[in-house]
Amino acid sequence: MSVPTLEDLGDVSGRRVLLRADFNVPIRDGEVVDDFRIRAALPTIEWLTSRGAVVTACSHLGRPKGKVDPRYSLEPVRARLAELAPGVELLENLRFNPGEEANDPAFVAQLVEGRDAYVNDAFGSSHRAHASIVGPPRLLPSAAGRLLQREVEVLLRLRTDPEHPFVCVLGGAKVSDKLAVIAALLRVADSLVIGGGMCFTFLRAQGHTIGDSLVEEDMVDTCRELLEREGDKIHLPVDITALGPGGAIGDPSAGGEVRQVGADVPAGWRGLDIGPGSAAAFGEVIAAARTVFWNGPMGVFEDPRFEAGTRSVAEAMAEAPGFTVVGGGDSAAALDQFGLAGRIDHVSTGGGASLELLELGDLPGLEALRGAPNA
Ligand code: 3PG
Ligand code: MG
Repeated sequence: MSVPTLEDLGDVSGRRVLLRADFNVPIRDGEVVDDFRIRAALPTIEWLTSRGAVVTACSHLGRPKGKVDPRYSLEPVRARLAELAPGVELLENLRFNPGEEANDPAFVAQLVEGRDAYVNDAFGSSHRAHASIVGPPRLLPSAAGRLLQREVEVLLRLRTDPEHPFVCVLGGAKVSDKLAVIAALLRVADSLVIGGGMCFTFLRAQGHTIGDSLVEEDMVDTCRELLEREGDKIHLPVDITALGPGGAIGDPSAGGEVRQVGADVPAGWRGLDIGPGSAAAFGEVIAAARTVFWNGPMGVFEDPRFEAGTRSVAEAMAEAPGFTVVGGGDSAAALDQFGLAGRIDHVSTGGGASLELLELGDLPGLEALRGAPNA
């Protein structure tokens, strides 16, 4: 699995380095509102610039679909980067060019023109076989940056050699998005804790009523099979916080009663968070673990009426004596909202990338680095 690292580039003094970063960060009113991903690239930038390299960074932002669109300009990122790492140039949004997502050789040629080396520190994008991720390592001496290196080390360790008990906590809306990673994690995890919108497909498979909660009907059988095979490892909510008829998510003024119910959600009600009994039970499983991985919120935590379950899991993670890893933008945002990010051992900068690495044990961006001329 080893990929070339910064040391493998040799002397970088005076060399022009193209740095692929993942600066796909939230922006509001022309300002970066969360610079976590920018700060995460600083160790690599400092390593390079302190040794005399001339660094040009590049990234995508959002999904502008191959067209120049000022709403997706990296200008706000450039301003923040200039404060954090003066002297580092930043190219405009790679996805303004259709060649980026198409992995067009002509766009790769444009990216490597005038550069002497390539560094990939864009962990969050390394599951995309896009031009800036897989192209330059075919042509230039290349290396993984410190962030990419650390992400891969931590996440592959979970997959191959975690300290047990190893507990995985999964949430989010859809089972179908997570099925492959659930299967991969069940091979190594001792317990799988399931909350969030996707728990209702499991609860339905167990024969519970779910009211108007989110459900993927076509996944019910799959969930039932999983429960039959691995049920002793799987922890599901025993109670739910539900919103009654007429209520609206994010708008308490719309009315609608909020109530704790058991594992059965009444007709006309929507389950939007795990209940306090479930939160306590999940907290105990997390506290007893030597390793914990968490991806996906337990409920609609953006609405204060439905944040308690996600907050409890975040607090249990912060308190946990075991080694804690969080992956995914929503879980990381929840940690930030609760001021707990600093108390987690590793907060991954990748969502899709961390799940794909856990599932497959490799990523297109890593494969490309292993094929570099210097590797
Ligand atoms: C992310 O935020 O998930 C990464 O930056 C990748 O973005 P993408 O999902 O648009 O490829
Ligand atoms: Mg994504």
